[in-house]
Formats: sequence, C-alpha cells, structure tokens
Amino acid sequence: MMDNRCNLRFALVILLIHEVSLQSITIEAVQGDSVILLCSARGYEKDVFWRHNNTKTVYDIIEGKEDFHDQDAVFRGRVKGFPSKFTEGNYSIRLSDVIYSDAGNYSCKIPNSKTVHVELRIKGSGRNSGITTSTDWVAVFQLVCVLLFGFTL
Ligand SMILES: *[C@@H]1O[C@H](CO)[C@@H](O)[C@H](O)[C@H]1NC(C)=O
Ligand SMILES: *[C@@H]1O[C@H](CO)[C@@H](O)[C@H](O)[C@H]1NC(C)=O
Ligand SMILES: *[C@@H]1O[C@H](CO)[C@@H](O)[C@H](O)[C@H]1NC(C)=O
Repeated sequence: MMDNRCNLRFALVILLIHEVSLQSITIEAVQGDSVILLCSARGYEKDVFWRHNNTKTVYDIIEGKEDFHDQDAVFRGRVKGFPSKFTEGNYSIRLSDVIYSDAGNYSCKIPNSKTVHVELRIKGSGRNSGITTSTDWVAVFQLVCVLLFGFTL
C-alpha cells in the first residue's frame, strides 16, 4: 500500500513548484543594454497595455495596432514591439539603451486574458550585458529535497 503521507507531500511539492514558477520574472541589465520583456497570451488579442510601475505608458497595442500616442517621453524611440508576432499572441517588447530610471515593475496588461509582470533591475556596474531570466530553480530544487527527503542542502 502506498504511503498516504508521501502522496500528500508530493501534491504539496507540485503546488509549491507551481507557486514559485508563477512569481514574476526578473531581468537584470546594465545601463546601455537592450532587454526583451516577455509577454505572451494563448492567442491573438486586440488590446495590450505595457506599463511601468503601474503608471507610465511604455507601449500600447490598440485594436491590433501599435499606438504610441500615450507613450511616456522617457520611453520614446526606445521601445519596439514585434507586430509580425501579434497573431501568435506574442506581445513582448524590446527596450533599448536602458537607463537607471527604467528599473522597476513592468506589467503587460491584456484585458481579455491576464497581466504579466516583469521586474527590471539595473546593476550598478558590470561588463557582461545580460538578459537573465530567472525562475529560481535552485530554490525549487532545494524545496523538493526538503519536502521529499527531509533534508536541506
Ligand atoms: C516573442 O518574441 C520575442 C522577440 O522576437 C522572442 O524573444 C520571444 O522568444 C517570443 N516569445 C514566444 C513565447 O514565442
Ligand atoms: C519604479 O520603481 C522602482 C522600484 O521601486 C524604482 O527604483 C524606480 O525609480 C521607479 N521608476 C519610476 C520612473 O517611477
Ligand atoms: C513589483 O511588484 C511586485 C508585485 O506585483 C512586488 O512584490 C515588488 O516588490 C515590486 N518590485 C518593485 C521593485 O517595486
């Protein structure tokens, strides 16, 4: 007979992995970098609104078309979408010439579907331009070990 406690643990682990992987994505960059902020939906959506710290307008798609009317001046000329991918449900954007004040929370709001959060951190220094998209897999792994086997690494 299977140990019920083990099954329970297993369910808990799955649940926790789910929780962890739902956390918003964090990207690190240094000044001057270009970063891609990822956002995708299951399918085509007419309206998508990218915002910074929930206030500034970064990029809008209205009725299926790019709309720069309300774009905040700080982002002018630095944000590029990928219109050819809209039909695939890909609403990612590229932000170039990253500056310190770009740090913070980006949200990709898709009214009919969901809101995707991306956090951008600007590192003080460093040579390697990097797009580090991290779900903390080490933490997930450690969690699995603790819950399944009862030890910490
Ligand atoms: C969406 O497009 C961007 C830019 O080309 C690409 O980097 C990204 O991988 C695409 N995402 C998906 C889910 O296809
Ligand atoms: C956005 O929020 C981040 C984190 O709180 C902050 O460092 C940054 O200065 C903010 N940027 C703007 C333009 O509000
Ligand atoms: C970004 O938003 C998340 C929740 O949406 C919050 O936990 C986090 O502190 C925010 N980060 C910054 C830098 O403001």
